[in-house]
Amino acid sequence: DLGPYRHFMQKEIFEQPRAVADTLHDIDSIDPELFGLLARKRFSEIDGILILACGTSYYSGLTAKYWIEAIAKIKVEVEIASEYRYRQSVPSSNTLVITMSQSGETADTLAALKHAKNLGMTKTLAICNVPTSAMVRECELAYITRAGIEIGVASTKAFTTQLTALYLLTLVLAKLKGNLSELQEIEELKLLKHLPVAMQEILELEPKITKWADKFATKEHALFLGRGMHYPIALEGALKLKEISYIHAEAYPAGELKHGPLALVTEEIPVIVVAPTDQLLEKLKSNMAEVKARGGELFVFSDDASKIEPSSGMHVIKLPGVYGNLSPILHTLPLQLLAYHVAIVRGTDIDKPRNLAKSVTVE
Ligand code: F6R
Repeated sequence: DLGPYRHFMQKEIFEQPRAVADTLHDIDSIDPELFGLLARKRFSEIDGILILACGTSYYSGLTAKYWIEAIAKIKVEVEIASEYRYRQSVPSSNTLVITMSQSGETADTLAALKHAKNLGMTKTLAICNVPTSAMVRECELAYITRAGIEIGVASTKAFTTQLTALYLLTLVLAKLKGNLSELQEIEELKLLKHLPVAMQEILELEPKITKWADKFATKEHALFLGRGMHYPIALEGALKLKEISYIHAEAYPAGELKHGPLALVTEEIPVIVVAPTDQLLEKLKSNMAEVKARGGELFVFSDDASKIEPSSGMHVIKLPGVYGNLSPILHTLPLQLLAYHVAIVRGTDIDKPRNLAKSVTVE
């Protein structure tokens, strides 16, 4: 039942405040037991993390690397499952293997998990949206995201609930390692509980984003830029756009521009920038100036604190808050809405993009 929505993708985008609230349950403290009865023991045994996933789920893993290394101070590797399963890697038995998956049935991710176990890495955690899935059965620990059934082929609420679970994991690991004070724990819980409210406010930007979509619909290429923990969000924004609008999109960490992709920039390529106020904003601004100097048209998602103002060749939509570490979750929403509305203008089959399946259960 679509209710007031035109597509499942749109419905699922708007379900995200509820999905994230459900994924957080009513937690009132940061406990390892959220991840299973054995979690406290396992988490205290590890000295590294290996995240295995595909597609959008891989991007949630990439985001988590920024969080876990910065906050919990544990080394994290993130690998595309289909690559990991076939390459010769160096296993370490003190590594926690995390598989990220909406469906829990993705063949490559399941095979990568089996491969890791065969290499002696038996400490395993599934972060998954389907409690009865093969992936949850195959792992000793699990965190179930509560996005609810996702019908649109393009993943939306599964991604933001995965990020929510991964942030929770970051806090759990930080606490176990003595890197989270009682005061910080209370503050973090408050911020997490506010997340659905902040998401709701951002979804109200839809009419503004719809206006941008008209400018994109005639383009065949787009570039997405982000820095730090927003680089994986730029990757996710580009994937959403290509999947459902069939516009070729690439994402780069903005510092890489001058090492190649700047050669692509003309008036014909819209450049979407994820630009929240953070310690990399000033660097990002100079990357944006490089784009502008070459005639590129910028579409910037920022916030009131950034002092980025619209000018010729630079469009700006400001999110209503500054969200700190939770900013990647919140900055995902406008990118989903942008892809959705561009696809509407182009008239594609949004819930069932050509050549794609919801669950990739074959190699
Ligand atoms: C993109 C998308 C895919 C999936 C990928 C992994 O919108 O949905 O990239 O993220 O196929 O699927 P799961 O998470 O079910 O393992």
